[in-house]
Amino acid sequence: MPRLAARFGSMVTDMPVLELVNISKTFGTKTVVHSTNFSIQKGEVVSIIGPSGAGKSSLLRMINLLEVPSSGEILIDSQPVAYKLNRASHLTFLSKFKLSKVRSKVGMVFQHFNLWEHKTVLDNIIEGPVNVNKKSKREAIRHAEELLARVGLLEKKNDYPGMLSGGQQQRVAITRALAMEPSVLLFDEPTSSLDPELVGEVLQMMTQLAEEGMTMIVVTHEMRFARQVSDRVLYMEEGRIVAEGTSEEIFESKDNARLARFFSSLHG
Ligand SMILES: Nc1ncnc2c1ncn2[C@@H]1O[C@H](COP(=O)(O)OP(=O)(O)OP(=O)(O)O)[C@@H](O)[C@H]1O
Ligand SMILES: [Mg+2]
Repeated sequence: MPRLAARFGSMVTDMPVLELVNISKTFGTKTVVHSTNFSIQKGEVVSIIGPSGAGKSSLLRMINLLEVPSSGEILIDSQPVAYKLNRASHLTFLSKFKLSKVRSKVGMVFQHFNLWEHKTVLDNIIEGPVNVNKKSKREAIRHAEELLARVGLLEKKNDYPGMLSGGQQQRVAITRALAMEPSVLLFDEPTSSLDPELVGEVLQMMTQLAEEGMTMIVVTHEMRFARQVSDRVLYMEEGRIVAEGTSEEIFESKDNARLARFFSSLHG
């Protein structure tokens, strides 16, 4: 708790890095995210918890521009993401170039790492900085090596992902996201596909990033992590944020029946 208070006091500014305004997502006739508002300040760590099918991944995928909202607006660093209406009156993105520029501000770490299997660790990390951020290869390699050294993975730089443990692969995936120097980093259940003994090293890396002031949105089933590291916790159910507060407010809430039901479902 003291560390959390210290982070909250010193790291979080009142500059929104990201804002969602009345964001909805409908697949066919099913609305999976209902008119949701959300913003995150620079340096803030927000965890999103909730049952399967609540719409947590759908929300993250819209923030990372992997999915176009059915309605609403997204602002990244106060700039609205430029969508246009197509002939069928659906929102679509403006251009591939603009899309990759905006997306580079929002890093994403997936449950299944999503590393390129045929590229080495180093090539996985420099791909985005070179091709999207237009860094020189030399500078991208220098930065990648610095990041890898910081997480103790420099000696793996010429390995292929298949040669690494799941925990190491996920730490490479986080490093790859960091190499783009994103304004905000999204995690979608980053430890869910890891063997239990490998979860700790990934959570430790994420905790360190949080302490260094990285702005993070973390969808997780790791309640201990959510409780200890987050400045704010959102609880989603059926496409809506139905509870929101500091980790104490959420985890020590005595009077919210939905939260109580969710927490008891986790304990089996
Ligand atoms: N591409 C899609 N087409 C149709 N329905 C979808 C699509 N993606 C998600 N859904 C539906 O949207 C709802 C929310 O799914 P989502 O994956 O966002 O939930 P979640 O909270 O991430 O769940 P989990 O904890 O299992 O990952 C689900 O009912 C899902 O079936
Ligand atoms: Mg999900």
